[in-house]
Amino acid sequence: MYQSFHPTPRTLMGPGPSDVNPRILEAMSRPTVGHLDPEFIRLMDEIKSMLQATFQTQNQLTIPVSAPGSAGMETCFVNLVEPGDKVIVCINGVFGTRMADNVSRFGGEVVRVEDDWGRAIDVQKVADALSENPDAKIVAMVHAETSTGARSDAQAICKLAAENDCLAIVDCVTSLAGCEVAVDAWGADAVYSGTQKCLSCAPGLSPITLSDRALETIKQRTSPVSSWFLDLNLVMGYWGEGSTRAYHHTAPVNALYGLHEALVVLHEEGLQNSWDRHVQNHNALKAGLESLGLSFIVPESERLAQLNTVTIPEGVDEATVRKQLLQRFNLEIGAGLGALAGKVWRIGLMGYASNPKNVLLCVTALEAVLSEYNAHIEKGAAVESVNRVYAG
Ligand SMILES: Cc1ncc(COP(=O)(O)O)c(C=O)c1O
Repeated sequence: MYQSFHPTPRTLMGPGPSDVNPRILEAMSRPTVGHLDPEFIRLMDEIKSMLQATFQTQNQLTIPVSAPGSAGMETCFVNLVEPGDKVIVCINGVFGTRMADNVSRFGGEVVRVEDDWGRAIDVQKVADALSENPDAKIVAMVHAETSTGARSDAQAICKLAAENDCLAIVDCVTSLAGCEVAVDAWGADAVYSGTQKCLSCAPGLSPITLSDRALETIKQRTSPVSSWFLDLNLVMGYWGEGSTRAYHHTAPVNALYGLHEALVVLHEEGLQNSWDRHVQNHNALKAGLESLGLSFIVPESERLAQLNTVTIPEGVDEATVRKQLLQRFNLEIGAGLGALAGKVWRIGLMGYASNPKNVLLCVTALEAVLSEYNAHIEKGAAVESVNRVYAG
């Protein structure tokens, strides 16, 4: 006989999903209403305006796509890329690679600008690619590369794109609410995120925002958008202005209650306070991890506060450590991805999970497990380092 599923509560300190705020889980359990119910339409309007504030944009087209971050990525590329279009794609990790794959699948020509994994995108290389490819239509980049923990200069790259008459597509899946995302100040044209990282919400939705310039480009397309579900001309019939909203697909009603609550929580805290909290907890975790002898792969000035990537000490079996953290401490941290598989751990401090209790749990649990491998770990030193940071 099948039985109800009751997962063991875990502390999620991997690359996502991150811990969901209980307020959000409670909001998601409220009664489902029809997706064209006037009360629900009011909720949709509030989601749109809170997302505009979160992305720091006035863009009218600012909505959540009804599917995870990958669907936000695909929405941007499938609507903006037409067969034959040249797209400069910055690649410094797994998610840049996925952008390039999107471009090719929609018939575009990819110009790859490659950087080392664990480093920010080199802005000069983007400038060079733009002067070598004056016919490029789009520049695409990942702001916060979750596979490595590196943050790139979105403002500088969007500016270069605009100066060269290109649109800029920016992946902000891991950055939104964890560090500053300023869509209008950057001049970004198509930006997507995900609910499961620093928004502390359940996985499954992808907030996006598109500039008027991007919308004009979509209007001028000579070929139809090759995805029915993600065609923004159709999606906007449901998410657009006024009372004429028409059925496009059945919105994930309860998931949207969750996103609404997540945005309310974020705006109660304030964007700047949220970014500062991520930095403070990162500094404490960094002190603790370094006391355990772990080193970061990303140079300090290019590091994300919400994703800490450290190398595995010699002689340590990384998968066994993660398994023990899960079994003994109900703590999840992430493995390396792509080229970094087996070489690093990725420790997330995202959204609700970015708090002193989690930082202390992580260093205590890692100390316990790593001590079994390494006799040189000084007992209690990591917790002391963490506490020293919190004490200021
Ligand atoms: C930078 C980045 N882009 C895109 C995605 C894809 O998002 P999802 O897994 O929600 O589809 C992720 C997920 O980890 C990500 O970190």
